[in-house]
Amino acid sequence: MTFPIVVLISGSGSNLQALIDQSLQGNLNVEICAVISNKADAFGLQRAQKAGIPTHTLDHKSFDSREAFDEQLKLIIDQYQPRLVVLAGFMRILTETFAQHYEGRMLNIHPSLLPKYKGLNTHQRAIDAGEKEHGVSVHFVSAELDAGAVILQASCPIEKTETADTLASKIHSYEHIIYPLAVKWFSEERLAYKQGTAVLDGKILAESGVMYHPDLI
Ligand code: GRF
Repeated sequence: MTFPIVVLISGSGSNLQALIDQSLQGNLNVEICAVISNKADAFGLQRAQKAGIPTHTLDHKSFDSREAFDEQLKLIIDQYQPRLVVLAGFMRILTETFAQHYEGRMLNIHPSLLPKYKGLNTHQRAIDAGEKEHGVSVHFVSAELDAGAVILQASCPIEKTETADTLASKIHSYEHIIYPLAVKWFSEERLAYKQGTAVLDGKILAESGVMYHPDLI
């Protein structure tokens, strides 16, 4: 039996593509039931359509409030009865009600070594701060922005010549490995959320989650 998931995007959707590719290659036993974007021109919608996945656009600008948008989004998501909601570059701040509704069954990927650099422009901020390394984190979503329990991180050194673009590109290639891996763990019921913590194979993970290395499966 496959594991139904819904993916939310706002842009390019390269992480969505990684999930599609890993499912097609038989490495990830999930069914992406729908892809939802708050932007009609998100390229990820085309990626979904090419893969035969139903898509929805829900323009946040046509709602009077954040609450009204999230309520409608919830209705669309829940018609697919997903076991997991995957935020893949979904550029919206979520209401507490929405976050609580999906507590323990919604993941996000954030381009920093959380808890460092929550929010936007993470690559430039890491360079400006003189960091020696940077990375990416997959975490459970809580009501507070980029603050839920971390599951998996990958890191890379920041070179002297690094720009935000070169760093983003390096980080992206890690994103495409660790996000499908975390989704796989969740779909295999190896990963769970218990009382605000991430639990993998029965063990509560450290605050920074598991650090990726190529032997992880
Ligand atoms: C990624 O950098 C991810 O870490 C962040 O948004 C970006 C989405 O990229 N949350 P894409 O749309 O998956 O290419």
